[in-house]
Amino acid sequence: MENPFRPTFGRTPPELLDRGDTLEEFEYGLRIRSGVLGLVSIITGARGVGKTVMLNEAQDLAQGQGWAVISETSTDGFLTRLADAALLLDDELGDGPPSRKVLAFTAAGFGVTTQLPQERQVEFRNLGASLLQRLDKQGTGLLITLDEVQDANRAELLQLAAVIQHWVRDGLPISFVCAGLPAAISDILNEGVATFLRRADRIDLHAVDIEDVEASYTRQYKEAGFVFPDGAMAESAAATLGYPFLVQLIGYFLWREAEKSGGTVAAESVKTAIHIALKRNIRMVVGPAIARVSNRDMSYLRAMALDTGPSSTAAVAKRMDASLQLATNYRARLIEAGLIEPAGRGEVKFSIPGLREYLRDSAN
Ligand SMILES: Nc1ncnc2c1ncn2[C@@H]1O[C@H](COP(=O)(O)OP(=O)(O)O)[C@@H](O)[C@H]1O
Ligand SMILES: [Mg+2]
Repeated sequence: MENPFRPTFGRTPPELLDRGDTLEEFEYGLRIRSGVLGLVSIITGARGVGKTVMLNEAQDLAQGQGWAVISETSTDGFLTRLADAALLLDDELGDGPPSRKVLAFTAAGFGVTTQLPQERQVEFRNLGASLLQRLDKQGTGLLITLDEVQDANRAELLQLAAVIQHWVRDGLPISFVCAGLPAAISDILNEGVATFLRRADRIDLHAVDIEDVEASYTRQYKEAGFVFPDGAMAESAAATLGYPFLVQLIGYFLWREAEKSGGTVAAESVKTAIHIALKRNIRMVVGPAIARVSNRDMSYLRAMALDTGPSSTAAVAKRMDASLQLATNYRARLIEAGLIEPAGRGEVKFSIPGLREYLRDSAN
């Protein structure tokens, strides 16, 4: 049996933990096709918590019900790419030879610009509406997914939201599911970029239950015929902190240790697997996440790392010997970067597992 774990961003795990209810609601919405919960959703959460995987799942469910799907990531020009994909779909579904009367949006030179001129925006809206009407007759619809929304150009996002809002109001079978880092999404919504998005279902993904991780590990290794020492599954599950990316990393290295040991695993090998996985997490997640953090912002993180749980912002400012105002600026930038998050009144906590440990180790 091949190692089933997938410690790679955007790759579907062998067992998708703790997401059943959300997906069920989405699937239910797909069946009704318009005007119900789940069809317009915003998925938020820290890096590695499983946002892209959820978008993939949504796509699979939609396709399974015969829906057309367009998936984009939020680099500049996503609106024109989306419009082109809709054009292509319309051509494919149309009866008669493809007319191609409408010039592709990117070919018209809007490919890298972040806004469509007024008339092309109307064109996209109408094109989409006719596509949706056609899909409606077939009893299906169109799902658009947009990943990494925190990077989206605001003007472009505003245009897209306006167009989708229009389709929604007309009762057309459209579903829009986007994903991004929580703080940036809050900003977007607060700025009033789109009232319609503010009414979207907000799905905040969090760590999964440690017990579920343990049960999942136990099941999978047992199926493979691997034998672990008592307590090894609980120890490994606890080390993941329920963080999906670590669930995959630790699962993956445990599997490798099990293969090396011929199926009966020693306690020492379990420790080795966890150790390697945690180190890899730092290289793959923590390192890249802090690569662009300035020295000043790093000193804020270091001051936080002295705590074992959430940090008081006042205490952090004091430790840094910075004014409250200055510390507030550091804090805002770090939240924006998805490295820390507010944790109740006057407190912040790390958003990425392993970050605290990394800062402590690198302080010496
Ligand atoms: N519900 C889940 N249960 C177990 N593993 C998961 C789950 N969701 C995601 N993963 C795993 O976590 C990692 C990160 O998922 P991804 O969707 O890329 O995160 P994000 O987009 O939030 O950064 C991948 O290795 C994926 O297989
Ligand atoms: Mg992602």
